Amino acid sequence: MTTRAYRETALLNAGLNPFLLKADDVFIDLLTDSGTGAMSDQQWAGIMRGDESYAGSSSFYRLAEVVERLFHYQHTIPVHQGRGAEQILFPSLVERAKQRGASKPLFISNHHFDTTKAHVEIAGGIAKNFICKAALDTSTYSDWKGNLDVAKLASEIEQSGAEQIAAVVITITCNSVGGQPVSMSNIQQVSTLARHHEIPVVIDAARFAENAYFIKQRDPLYADKSIHDIVAGMFVNGDIFTMSAKKDGLVNIGGLCCFKTDKTLFERVQRQCVIMEGFVTYGGLAGRDMEAMAIGLQEACDEEYLRSRIAQVEYLGEKLQRAGIPVQTPVGGHAVFVDASKVLSSVPSTFFPAQMLCNALYIESGVRATEIGSLMMGRNPVTREQEPALFELMRLTIPRRTYTNNHMDYVAESLVRLIEKAPQLRKLVFEYEPEVLRQFTARFKEI
Ligand code: F0G
Repeated sequence: MTTRAYRETALLNAGLNPFLLKADDVFIDLLTDSGTGAMSDQQWAGIMRGDESYAGSSSFYRLAEVVERLFHYQHTIPVHQGRGAEQILFPSLVERAKQRGASKPLFISNHHFDTTKAHVEIAGGIAKNFICKAALDTSTYSDWKGNLDVAKLASEIEQSGAEQIAAVVITITCNSVGGQPVSMSNIQQVSTLARHHEIPVVIDAARFAENAYFIKQRDPLYADKSIHDIVAGMFVNGDIFTMSAKKDGLVNIGGLCCFKTDKTLFERVQRQCVIMEGFVTYGGLAGRDMEAMAIGLQEACDEEYLRSRIAQVEYLGEKLQRAGIPVQTPVGGHAVFVDASKVLSSVPSTFFPAQMLCNALYIESGVRATEIGSLMMGRNPVTREQEPALFELMRLTIPRRTYTNNHMDYVAESLVRLIEKAPQLRKLVFEYEPEVLRQFTARFKEI
């Protein structure tokens, strides 16, 4: 634990950007749930038997076997993390769309994650987010705030033409709107519509097991189904999935790019993998990483594990709600999202209210959170205008199997104390603004 004076200096040295803090200067780290969880005894045992062969590692074959068993996808490419999958897949989808006659291929999603959007743009596509309206009102409960607006997708297909759409990307759970689940019927409807127009369906599967758990809890049709059956039921609606295994793969590093049946596309993406990630049976990972991922994917589908995981997020969410702190309701699978536009209602988004809150929380308590709002949204690549953000949220992201509820008590108490001081917080402006993905390395000053 550090003192307030120490943290003030540390944050100043970090350009008032918690991403630039040293982790040793953080007391409880809720920056992300990505690769920050604890591996199990089984996974560590797996690490010991990793097969480090350059080509054809037995660890790769064990991983591919687990993928086939859980998701029923035939073709597996391991990658170093989620964005590795995006960078090898999206250029091929763009190329395919252009062969079908697309001039500027579109990617339609419930919501693209920030690096996902960046990879769409680097590949020459345009990313559009069609999140359902219920997600936008943080204070009202709705079961499926991650759903994609199907009517909007239908009208986009009608107006732009199906050939303009390179892919539909269903993000489960939907991180950017609060870790909110997508219902089984929404996945089915989106898939049916896309299939009818021969548009490939990509599942961004980072938090697939949490999404399956929510379906079991909230959809009576699935109350008696196993997590395995629900996972299979979701993935049958996709053609391809990309996965950051640093979330529900329960590993510190790793990812996947998998194809249900499309061997032609798989082979094209394999070629890209060799150039960008590594040979096709290791994709930038050590054999031991693939071994740990194969075990982690199975552990993530354990219902008892999922219950304790989601219950911890709910525990923190309930404490905050009881204290009257506005959060995205219901809380998501991996994080509690505090609505900074309500806490700091007089601060315009141009001064990054959620980032102000993250900074103040760090000073108050040594807890590190992250901004999901205008800062992350960035600028339009053509006009350079600030892209309008749907929300100004502070994400308190809970790593898997890492903290206890005592830690959550401390976070909640700190935040309650801080909210009383909110009117005194100072606005932020850039001292250094990177051109893209600016949240990671920007530096700020207070005004
Ligand atoms: N898709 C989603 C939905 C994500 O949340 C992330 C990463 C990625 C793709 C990219 O995966 O980091 O392994 O390259 N999300 C992390 C986060 C970084 O903090 O939410 P990656």
